[in-house]
Amino acid sequence: MRVLVIGNGAREHAIVWKLSQDKNISEIFAIPGNAGIAQIAKCIEEKMDNIQGIIDIAKEYKIDWTIVGPELPLSLGIVDIFEKEGLKIWGPNKEGAKLEYSKAFAKEIMKTSKIPTAEFKIFDSFSSAVEFVKKTSYPLVIKADGLCGGKGVKIAESYESAVQILHEYMINKIFGPSGEKVVIEEYLEGKEFSLIAIIKNGDFYFLPSAQDYKRVGEGNTGENTGGMGSFSPVPWINEEILKKCEKNIFRPLLDELTKRNINYQGFLYGGLILVRNEPYVLEFNVRLGDPEAQVILPLLNFNFTDILYRTNFPWLSDKKALCVVLASKGYPGNYETGKEIIFKNINFQNLYIFHAGTVKRNGKILTSGGRVLSVTSWGENFKEIRERVYNAIDEIYFENKYYRKDIGIELI
Ligand code: AMP
Ligand code: GLY
Repeated sequence: MRVLVIGNGAREHAIVWKLSQDKNISEIFAIPGNAGIAQIAKCIEEKMDNIQGIIDIAKEYKIDWTIVGPELPLSLGIVDIFEKEGLKIWGPNKEGAKLEYSKAFAKEIMKTSKIPTAEFKIFDSFSSAVEFVKKTSYPLVIKADGLCGGKGVKIAESYESAVQILHEYMINKIFGPSGEKVVIEEYLEGKEFSLIAIIKNGDFYFLPSAQDYKRVGEGNTGENTGGMGSFSPVPWINEEILKKCEKNIFRPLLDELTKRNINYQGFLYGGLILVRNEPYVLEFNVRLGDPEAQVILPLLNFNFTDILYRTNFPWLSDKKALCVVLASKGYPGNYETGKEIIFKNINFQNLYIFHAGTVKRNGKILTSGGRVLSVTSWGENFKEIRERVYNAIDEIYFENKYYRKDIGIELI
């Protein structure tokens, strides 16, 4: 089977790496890929929002199955267009992807199906949003409706800061049309975790739970990022909590999608928070998380292509995994790129380095993005896994290397 993966992050490198262990696969292609992906797949240059260009490539290279990593092509309806052409693809269609590209839609569907989530109101006029924040209590959370690359959620501690955020989103339009509509919601206090399901034929199967570290600084301080590290499974997510996630969140959501004739297939990512031992939804994403994929995929005891054929996905494994992201100093703000990366004496036993922002130029691997590498290890014991990750990081050199030293500290 010839498989095409769309994306250029460490998540997509992890998908390609998992596919490369699958005997059913003869060749792997990636659009556009990165320097790490290029070591195990053929990378083809094309923009991820040029759906027609991607279709032409899928036909030219006789691709049997395409896997979409990020949300952008899904929000543009790549799945609908591929299926119309009779091409096999993994991911939700445009209507399903709306769960991620419209937070207002996701909240509305949660309300209808009584899924636990923060109380909220939706506004598309600045003046009525300001009226509302005048007479509400703080802190509260302001979310741009559309896709903002993970930057569209802000916590307001006071009326003044709420007005300032609303002004930036709705009047200055710092996120363009994505911020013209906003969701204002209650602030929930609790422990966050990620739970991703494979959704197929009207049913769902949980992948191991994962923990993401969203803030850039140690002790969970500073700005929100795409994710600075992760581990899986989350020791404090037990069977009882998973049952609640099934019964109160994923089952009613799937029933409601079916009622609306939305035939969802693909990964569905629940960004969840445990409040007084009850799981609440902060957001849905319609794809694997990054850096969650880097720790979940090494734990799966089935092939990626099994997703296509199988109807259940047991993952009764004792294995655990942890990932630390190496970033360019300054991320998620401004940072420099083009720095040479040198890998010294790395012990690759139960360890892999997934690439994100890297390119190969004249035989050298250079940094090309904010998040550069995801150093991931797996095994039986979090303490040993964590030591392997941090030992490997000491053997990786590039100018302005930045990473958090406290990933998984609570596990040991
Ligand atoms: P989202 O993209 O909606 O998951 O929001 C990004 C981050 O903002 C989350 O991971 C939380 O840390 C925080 N957040 C979002 N919604 C809320 C909420 N209602 N209460 C508290 N924190 C929130
Ligand atoms: N790690 C969060 C995300 O992928 O959205």
